[in-house]
Amino acid sequence: MRNRANPHIRNLLAQDGLSVAKLIQPLFVIEGLVGEEKIPGLIGNNRMGIDTALKQIEKDLENAVRHFMLFSVPKDKGISAKAGANIISAIKKRFGSDIHLWVDTCLCSSSFDGHCCIFNQGEIDLEASLNALSSYALAYANAGADGIAPSDMMDGRVGAIRNILDKNSHTNIPIMSYSTKFASEFYGPFRGAADSAPSFGDRRQYQIDVRNRTDALNASKRCAKEGADFLMLKPGMTSIDLLAPIKRQNNLPVGVYQVSGEYASLALLAENGLTDFDKALLETWQVFHRAGAQYIITYGARLALNLGITK
Ligand code: PBG
Repeated sequence: MRNRANPHIRNLLAQDGLSVAKLIQPLFVIEGLVGEEKIPGLIGNNRMGIDTALKQIEKDLENAVRHFMLFSVPKDKGISAKAGANIISAIKKRFGSDIHLWVDTCLCSSSFDGHCCIFNQGEIDLEASLNALSSYALAYANAGADGIAPSDMMDGRVGAIRNILDKNSHTNIPIMSYSTKFASEFYGPFRGAADSAPSFGDRRQYQIDVRNRTDALNASKRCAKEGADFLMLKPGMTSIDLLAPIKRQNNLPVGVYQVSGEYASLALLAENGLTDFDKALLETWQVFHRAGAQYIITYGARLALNLGITK
């Protein structure tokens, strides 16, 4: 019933054509920031303080956007969900059920080392990582999040999060799992925006190797088994071959994340007079839709109505 709970989620999942209702707009909200700061490459997207974010969401609503993916960036590093929870409360207090607020749930914007998990003497401490992620998910749900979107890629996190949500009477909150997420060079613009670049090593110990199709399929299958309501492919454009197989394998809603580097590449081509940004962006969404994506997370969601897509 989670996937039928309100008009936003029903419209997102309706299998009746590409519309703005299928697009999810990321938001970078920075604790303590006054005003906003540009993000290189991500045209139409800024790092925002909460007041600016509230104004931006108001404009986005006028452009028919209803789904948002929140990335909260705390002022001080340290494992705590407090900054994120405060931001969620402020947004939901203002907009209530006018919007559907998904919350990216990960440790990398708050951890000292910029990793998505907790390291202990050079090794991933899975238990500590799952405990921290679950406590973030619960804090976000308590603050009013409409959906939890774990992006860390730790084994078992979907099950752990489902468990803590259900135990705390959040059975109605869906989990959108970043279920097939590759270690990718296309996350560049994001890491600056979310202040989440790893200070040592990379994320190859937990994100999927692009050469490994079997792992890519199994990762989504595991999330489905653990109770994910939505599966996701990321980066969307470079993983499009896996959409149909994942859909077939799990028969759950499968969507894509058109990641920062993919979106910025269109902007950079356009900036050099090598493509028409609007037409190129629209083309990418049409391809996602053709491939069977049921939702699209894209930095251009707020532009969609003006590109001629129906509400
Ligand atoms: C955090 C997270 C990342 C993205 C979404 N959530 C970065 C990463 O894994 O390094 C990337 C989004 C983008 O590039 O647009 N774990």
